[in-house]
Amino acid sequence: DWSPAAFVESTVEELRTKLGNDKVVLGLSGGVDSSVAAMLLHKAIGENLTCIFVDNGLLRKNEYENVLDSYKHMGLNVIGVDAKDQFLGQLTGVSDPETKRKIIGRVFIETFDIEAHKIQNVKWLAQGTIYPDVIESVSVNGPSVTIKSHHNVGGLPDKMNLKVVEPLKLLFKDEVRRVGHEMKISPTILGRHPFPGPGLAIRILGDITPEKVTLLQEVDHIFIEGLKSSGLYDQVWQAGVMLLPVQSVGVMGDERTYESVVALRAVQSTDGMTADWVHLPYEFLSRISNDIINKVRGVNRVVYDISSKPPATIEWE
Ligand code: XMP
Repeated sequence: DWSPAAFVESTVEELRTKLGNDKVVLGLSGGVDSSVAAMLLHKAIGENLTCIFVDNGLLRKNEYENVLDSYKHMGLNVIGVDAKDQFLGQLTGVSDPETKRKIIGRVFIETFDIEAHKIQNVKWLAQGTIYPDVIESVSVNGPSVTIKSHHNVGGLPDKMNLKVVEPLKLLFKDEVRRVGHEMKISPTILGRHPFPGPGLAIRILGDITPEKVTLLQEVDHIFIEGLKSSGLYDQVWQAGVMLLPVQSVGVMGDERTYESVVALRAVQSTDGMTADWVHLPYEFLSRISNDIINKVRGVNRVVYDISSKPPATIEWE
């Protein structure tokens, strides 16, 4: 039967044989899959692996710095790329969700491509594709495409003329976590909630501005840190906040205000295909709502999303 230790040993061996002295590039996202794939390759080929971690300006508050730091502590050879201006620039004035996704996918490929070409003689592109991604994309796109349509790396291998290596291709998520644990990857990385590739762009309904991104990062930070400090984070599969394109009336002193509404979302799920909203304690919601309204200027109303999937989706766009 399957054991993480045996998997690590045999996979590292296979990777060494397959890759020899070749150079490999891998895109890190901060998520579990790409991190575990990177560590396996690092064990197998060391410095011949170069990782690229792109800041698209749509990550959570402090996420880029924190994640880059933990990757460096893991001994990975990682290049951080600040592409915030490119992403936000290209997204200016765009409100349509699918257009946002396409732009983000395209700018990611362009950014990654430029960085990858700085590596001399790179031959392979490594990806953290896991088994459910393979099944999903086969049914969606036909057997030749092995990348989830909504994953941002779609199109990379074609464009770059690289051979693809996917060490997690036969694993399920829980097995990936066990492999990560076996390789001593920190629980903060392994236990991290899923986060969509397009990031906060699809949680800002309507058009995106740097001010909205900053506002949403602050609100999201209060919610996520609140979940962590209340011991609720690990009981939730995914959580986040949507910034709604609605101004609602409020009162401050003698004046009426029109300010933004944010919607908190926390769901329980196993694979994201179906999801139930989490019955977070009223006390907790009450404290978070007060914190948000008192601390974040521009927000005067907080709502909690009590819809399950289906028919609602997890994200609002
Ligand atoms: P929905 O909103 O479809 O989300 O119920 C299901 C899961 O997929 C994530 N999601 C995305 N992930 N690119 C991604 O990498 C995307 O465009 C995207 N859209 C949704 C969502 O966060 C949830 O975990």
